[in-house]
Amino acid sequence: MLVFAKIKSVQQKIKSLKKGTSIGFVPTMGALHKGHLSLIEQAKKENDIVVVSIFINPTQFNKQEDLVNYPKTIDSDLSLLKSVYCDIVFTPSAEEIYNNNIISQLFNFDGLEHQMEGKFRDGHFDGVGTIVKRLFEIVTPTKSYFGEKDFQQLQIIRKMVEKNQIHTKIIGCEIYREDDGLAMSSRNSRLTKEHRAIAPFIYKTLKKAKKEFGIKNAQEVISWVENEFKKQPLLELEYFEIADEETLHPIKNKDPKQKYRAFIAVFAGKIRLIDNISL
Ligand code: PAJ
Repeated sequence: MLVFAKIKSVQQKIKSLKKGTSIGFVPTMGALHKGHLSLIEQAKKENDIVVVSIFINPTQFNKQEDLVNYPKTIDSDLSLLKSVYCDIVFTPSAEEIYNNNIISQLFNFDGLEHQMEGKFRDGHFDGVGTIVKRLFEIVTPTKSYFGEKDFQQLQIIRKMVEKNQIHTKIIGCEIYREDDGLAMSSRNSRLTKEHRAIAPFIYKTLKKAKKEFGIKNAQEVISWVENEFKKQPLLELEYFEIADEETLHPIKNKDPKQKYRAFIAVFAGKIRLIDNISL
């Protein structure tokens, strides 16, 4: 496994690959867990080589506190990557990426950015767009892998690739969960014991909402979920929305031709958790 911190070195290596070598790319912010590894394993199966980037991108954090507290576990990240036979790891510094000019490019994602996470995390998706576009330019991947865990991010990246005619195929990967259903996240390790114990309630409620969606209208399902969370003093619901998978617009009337997904954000103490389910 080769590890590069410099853009020039990783580009040189990529340029030296035999023509036609397919590159699978998995961008991450480190603090790797089995959710990340599931993306890497899929990339491994579908490509000749796999490149993983580890970069805690400052421009996508709307709270300085979250950036400072983001777990940094480079040693264990590298040994996990070795264990899944990752070929190349790219670990640039903020300076290397942003040249002391740590600001985002502004994007128009046709409104996808104004829904859900966009309402609560100002500038977040401009930051994500900025770094992912930059990484695509550096790595020139054949296929790039993103988790459905961050479904809005996945759709925004698809939109960016389409609008900017970037030559990489975006692959969405299923959410990897703990045995008790909690979606794996680097934030889970920051939960208190009590909050960790109650957190599987989020996915349990999503699964029940999926059942309810078969027999009730969307507003009834939304009210039902909101009510379930009112009974749960350790969890604070930030939003629960049912939206069209393509546009991410909140559902108005159920159209059997459309695909819908339920999205949720919950505070477990200070830790904000997100999850979603296809309906
Ligand atoms: P990060 O949170 O490290 O996630 C990297 C990738 O792993 C994302 O595509 C995310 O959706 C996926 N992922 C995380 N948890 C997952 C799970 N439980 N199951 C499946 N996939 C999961 O997302 C980011 O980093 C950043 O925004 C990034 C795209 C790297 C840009 O900075």
